[in-house]
Amino acid sequence: MKMGMEITMNAVKRTIKWEDNKVVMVDQRKLPERLEMLTCISHYEVIDAIKSMAIRGAPAIGVAAAYGMALAANNIKVKSKAEFCSKLAVVKDELAHSRPTAVNLFWALDEIWKVITSSKSSVDELKERILSKANSLAEQDIKTNLSIGENGVRLFEDGDIILTHCNAGSLATVFYGTAIGVIRSVFQKKRNIKVFVDETRPVLQGARLTAWELKYDKIPFTLICDSVAGFLMYQKKITKIVVGADRIVTNGDTVNKIGTYSLSVLAKVHNIPFYVAAPTSTIDFNLKKGEDIPIEERSPEEVTTIMDKRIAPCHIAVHNPAFDITPNYNITAIITENGILEPPYEKTLKSFLTK
Ligand code: MRU
Repeated sequence: MKMGMEITMNAVKRTIKWEDNKVVMVDQRKLPERLEMLTCISHYEVIDAIKSMAIRGAPAIGVAAAYGMALAANNIKVKSKAEFCSKLAVVKDELAHSRPTAVNLFWALDEIWKVITSSKSSVDELKERILSKANSLAEQDIKTNLSIGENGVRLFEDGDIILTHCNAGSLATVFYGTAIGVIRSVFQKKRNIKVFVDETRPVLQGARLTAWELKYDKIPFTLICDSVAGFLMYQKKITKIVVGADRIVTNGDTVNKIGTYSLSVLAKVHNIPFYVAAPTSTIDFNLKKGEDIPIEERSPEEVTTIMDKRIAPCHIAVHNPAFDITPNYNITAIITENGILEPPYEKTLKSFLTK
């Protein structure tokens, strides 16, 4: 698909979908220059897409992994159910090793696995059930995002100037987004808002993806270098911050794109509400605190080059963690599809989910 000013996410409808027994996704590496779709015919191609960030963002990679299972299931040509399941167990493990931090990936794989283990169906029926589960996870993601957006509105006012980091929009989900979903819903209800978008080095999800989404939605925004955010807060030019999440643990500590922690500290110093918007599938009750979450280290080239052009000397040490941990005490509230959580998160997260 060629880029045209009129071609937007609204034209594509979904970041990822199942079409003609293939997985079709927006190739996010090409944006904003071109809106191009990437077609995967095997789970190996889905793994490549996740690793190379053709698809990225916690909920989107969860759905990609689910569709990866559906592709693999279709491609396994055995009649014995035991053999089918043992082959799929290997696939599940391969998909689980595509990226380590966002818990939605493991959550979605577990959701698919429950279908496999809880069913007495034949191999052919199982293939259908796996695909139908993957499709329902995709649909559920959109509904969840719309509810997160709806729930978040009451935290914002007319005139708010909102800072966001990374891309937690349609492209990070199946559609609509989490943090950007909240901004979308606030804009629909209280039109007089403005947004600052951090460029989000090194992969530039803010500059390339969030700016692209907001532009086509006609939501007023200004793109800034990451280092500008603190000065804007000092100048009282930011009234609220909202970000997405890759994993939230039992005590409310939240892992999100590198740079989020610094923003939360600045927000605290400047008395600015700091909100996390995420689906409940991003909550990991198996882990107690932020330090337990594995943080992905990505390639040095993401730092030493920009758009394939080298910007640093060769043979130097580079540290490139993709995510950081925002401690629970820096988070004013967590906006989920089930409502808004406030501290103390150890209590509210648990009681809230069992409601
Ligand atoms: O490395 P990425 O681009 O996959 O990281 C994405 C983020 O950190 C997002 O902010 C997060 O997944 C929330 S997306 C709804």
